[in-house]
Amino acid sequence: MNIFTQEIPAASRMMMLVMFVGLSSLQPALADDDDDDEADDIAPSEVPLDCNPHEFEPPPKFLCKAKRRAEGRRLFTQETFGGNGRTCETCHSRKTGTFSPEDVLKRLSEDPDDPLFVHDGLDDGFTGVSRILEHATVRITLPLPEGVSLKHDPQATHVTVNRGTPTVKNTPALENVFMHDLRNLTLQEQALGAIRGHAQNTVEPTPLQLDLIAEFQQTAPRFFSNPELRRFAKGGPPPALPLGNTESEQRGRLFFVDAPFNPPNKTGVCALCHSGAMLNEANVFSSAVFGNPPGVRAFSVRVAERNLLGNDLHTFLIEDTLGPPVEVTTPDLGILMTDHKQLMDLEILPPDPVLARFGLRRAFFANMFKTPTLWGVKHTAPYFHDNSAKNLEEMLDQYDFAFSTPPIGGSIQLTPQDKEDIIAFLELL
Ligand code: HEC
Ligand code: HEC
Repeated sequence: MNIFTQEIPAASRMMMLVMFVGLSSLQPALADDDDDDEADDIAPSEVPLDCNPHEFEPPPKFLCKAKRRAEGRRLFTQETFGGNGRTCETCHSRKTGTFSPEDVLKRLSEDPDDPLFVHDGLDDGFTGVSRILEHATVRITLPLPEGVSLKHDPQATHVTVNRGTPTVKNTPALENVFMHDLRNLTLQEQALGAIRGHAQNTVEPTPLQLDLIAEFQQTAPRFFSNPELRRFAKGGPPPALPLGNTESEQRGRLFFVDAPFNPPNKTGVCALCHSGAMLNEANVFSSAVFGNPPGVRAFSVRVAERNLLGNDLHTFLIEDTLGPPVEVTTPDLGILMTDHKQLMDLEILPPDPVLARFGLRRAFFANMFKTPTLWGVKHTAPYFHDNSAKNLEEMLDQYDFAFSTPPIGGSIQLTPQDKEDIIAFLELL
């Protein structure tokens, strides 16, 4: 049950076009002309941390920002909140914004007491490092939202899934909905969840501390894959698709230009979902293929369905008001793990009466995950929400699998040359 396997009638495409509103219309409010760098600013003591840089003229404006930046950096890189020793940087490295199996191996051999190897880093939450060594995934325990239960354990309130750590480059400043399942709408809410969930804190962060962590991630150079993205976050022009120098790069680029879906022509195939300035939203041509409206940020490319890593399967019962609960067996439900009312408020999930009119059930939205940005992607392997693709080649093997099923249904086949071209282009981003 997902967008790739279900034929959507033309009428319902229209319906969804009306129902959904692209998240892209919500642009982050970041206007900031201060181009200071991460050079260790000495935090001046004269200004209070809760100063508002917008209320000051230079030089106090600079002092206020420098002070907040220094404290944000400390909170992100050093503060443990009386927990298990982890900081944000334990999982979101300065270099890539995430961590890979190679990083895990290096850290384990350098220091087996590294706080990565506790709690949700361990195989069953208590012992064993084989999963994190091989796949660099973290155990994420999530509450079951209303209307979702486990068939074989009806009393269960939570479920645990293995997920990769998304990079914190570009996204904090340039996206407005976070996590693979779109469950957090603010960086503050996200940071609080991370401090409780990953760091097992004994000291609660203050609202100001959460603001400073958010601000640090939205402004410091380390959180951008290149200066152009940082300028964009400050209100500058959107980054353009690189033109490519070699013929291979230029051919690869064609997969990312906005164009109607016209198989077997492959132009624009990736842009159906990876479009817009951040290459993370559906374009206007996607509706004709997948039935979604432009701007949508969640799809299934059949990663959970394929379950290449053999993660534990759960049989979920998904309720709506349209009939008996629908069974979905999957390692990770994706966006349906997020409160359904929130998904409706985001206009990702249409209300039941609208679904009913077009013969769809809520379970249709199982196994969909946030479409990630592709800027800086060459640095952030492994790929997908479960880290199941070790490199860009394996990432494209997943698209062989996804494109072989409806609605694309084999009408697009990536040749070895196509794959080489796409990778050459992705390496420019
Ligand atoms: C144990 C490793 C770990 C630690 C420590 C950690 N994170 Fe994460 N982070 C993750 C994982 C895994 C996800 C994805 C979780 C999901 O989708 O369910 C994530 C997601 C995020 C996201 C969302 C990115 C996106 O593209 O949606 C942000 C932002 C983030 N973390 C920031 C932080 C901050 C700030 C801290 C410290 C307060 C922190 N993280 C601590 C592993 C970690
Ligand atoms: C139907 C929409 C759709 C199409 C078409 C599509 N993608 Fe994706 N892409 C996604 C979604 C959704 C994810 C995340 C899936 C997940 O984690 O389960 C993703 C993930 C990725 C990732 C992993 C990024 C990361 O940080 O983990 C890469 C790289 C990528 N896509 C490249 C491509 C390329 C190249 C094409 C064209 C051959 C393409 N995509 C076509 C929706 C799409």
